[in-house]
Amino acid sequence: MKKAGIALYPGSFDPFTFGHLDILERACRIFDHVQVTIARNSEKSGFFPNARRRELILECTQHLDNMSVEVFDGLLADYARSMEAVALVRGLRQVSDFDYEFRMAFANRRLAPEVETVFFMTSERHALISASIVREIHGHGGDISSFVPKPVLQALSST
Ligand code: COA
Repeated sequence: MKKAGIALYPGSFDPFTFGHLDILERACRIFDHVQVTIARNSEKSGFFPNARRRELILECTQHLDNMSVEVFDGLLADYARSMEAVALVRGLRQVSDFDYEFRMAFANRRLAPEVETVFFMTSERHALISASIVREIHGHGGDISSFVPKPVLQALSST
């Protein structure tokens, strides 16, 4: 099967969860190379510093050989173009994701028409995870071991 160039998988990944890993693994099967792009969502304040998020993602993805992780601060569409990316990967977990994703995909298409947004459906096991829910459960002492890979679990435990 012909594979399809470089894709960026952007997000805040604060922290990286099994849901993100699931999407990344699917994308790595389709694209030649997937760059996890830690980008800034101006509506979110950070929990882990970007450099730590990057380290954790690298630790969680040692079994994948066609991906990388970078931190980027700026307009994603410009960055995708500068990287000559063919696609932006996003995960869809449930219907409520759609409205936001739809608007973001249209905005990015307007800014960089040559970069296609591609949606991967997450596995149903991970459909209800979000980074903030994981942080919230952890903050109250709950068990998050089924939500995040071991390196993230350890990092959260030491905060
Ligand atoms: N499994 C688990 N959780 C998932 C998931 C999956 N498959 N897919 C998404 N999520 C969660 C995330 O953990 C996150 O949870 P949170 O809201 O509790 O933090 C939420 O769903 C969506 O976040 P994420 O996928 O990380 O995206 P985001 O909305 O934080 O990131 C950016 C959006 C960073 C990609 C976007 O703001 C951006 O492109 N910024 C750069 C500036 C720019 O170009 N802006 C214009 C964009 S049109």
